[in-house]
Amino acid sequence: MNMPEQIPAIEASFETLLLNEIQCGIYLLTINRPKVLNALNTTVLSELAQAVEQVDNDSNARVLLITGAGDKSFVAGADITEMNTLTPLEGKAFAERGMAAFRRLEQMKIPVIALVNGYALGGGCELAMSCDFVLASDNARFGQPEVSLGITPGFGGSQRLTRLLGRAMAMELLVSGRAMNAEEALQRGLANHVYPQSDLLSEGVALASRISQNSPTAIQMTKQLVQRGQDLDLENGCVMESDLFGLSFATPDRAEGMQAFIDNRKPSFV
Ligand code: CAA
Repeated sequence: MNMPEQIPAIEASFETLLLNEIQCGIYLLTINRPKVLNALNTTVLSELAQAVEQVDNDSNARVLLITGAGDKSFVAGADITEMNTLTPLEGKAFAERGMAAFRRLEQMKIPVIALVNGYALGGGCELAMSCDFVLASDNARFGQPEVSLGITPGFGGSQRLTRLLGRAMAMELLVSGRAMNAEEALQRGLANHVYPQSDLLSEGVALASRISQNSPTAIQMTKQLVQRGQDLDLENGCVMESDLFGLSFATPDRAEGMQAFIDNRKPSFV
C-alpha cells in the first residue's frame, strides 16, 4: 500500500501508532509495529483507546481509517511473545483491555473503515470486525488461528465472527483456524471491496471523502440505528428509527440538506 509518507503525523506522542489527519476531517490511524507484523501488545491497545478518544472528541472528525504499517500485514494478532508470560488473571485482564478498546472503537460517533492490507489474524481480524466495514487489499488474509496456540479468541472474535458470518461458517473458521483470502472474505461479506494493494489507501480516502460530504449528524444517527438496532427486534428497531427520523428534523443539517435540494445546489454541512 502506498503509505502517506509525506503527511506529517499530528500526534507524535504515540509509541506504536501513527495518527494523521490526511484530509480535512479524515484521519488515518496506522498500527506501527511492522517488525512483528503489527502485533497488538498492551501498549498498542492502550494507545488505540487514547487515539480513538482523541479523534472522537474532535468535532471536525468525519471518518477514521485504520490500517497496518508495511505491505505485509494489517495486524497479525495479539502479541504472542507478550501473551506467553501471562498468568490466567493477567490473560483475562489483557482480553478485557482489548475488548474495551475495540468496543470503544465500535461506538465512535463517526464511521470507521478498516483498510486491511495483509494479514488480519486473531486480534487483527477482531480489530477489522470492530470497524464499521472493511476494504481489503488483494493480499489480505482473515482468520482466527487461536486454537492452534491452545487459546480461544480474546478480543471478541467468537462473538463478532458469528454475528457477521452466521454460526456454521464462524464455527468452521474458529475451530479449524483456517484463514480466508480476500476473495472469500468478500464473498462472505467480511470485506466490502477488494483492491490492488497499491490502490487501497486512495480507495479508502475516496470513500471517506464521499462520506464526509453528507450530514455529520445524520451519519451519527444512522450509525446508532445500525449499531443499536442489531440488538433489538424489528419492532423496537423500527420504533427507534422513527424516533431518530423525527429528531433529525430538529437539526440544522436537515434544514440545509432539504433547502439545498429545493435550491438545486450542493448542501454545505458544518
Ligand atoms: N505476535 C508476536 N510476534 C509476531 C506475531 C504475533 N501475533 N505475528 C508475527 N510475529 C513476528 C514473528 O515472530 C516474526 O518475528 P522475528 O522476525 O523476530 O522472528 C515477525 O513477526 C515476522 O513474522 P514471520 O517470520 O512469522 O512471517 P511469515 O511471513 O513467515 O508468517 C504469519 C506470517 C503467518 C502471519 C505468522 O507470523 C503467524 O502465524 N503469526 C501469528 C498469527 C497468529 O497466530 N495470530 C493470533 C494471535 S492470538 C490472538 O490474537 C488472541 C486474541 O484474539 C486476543
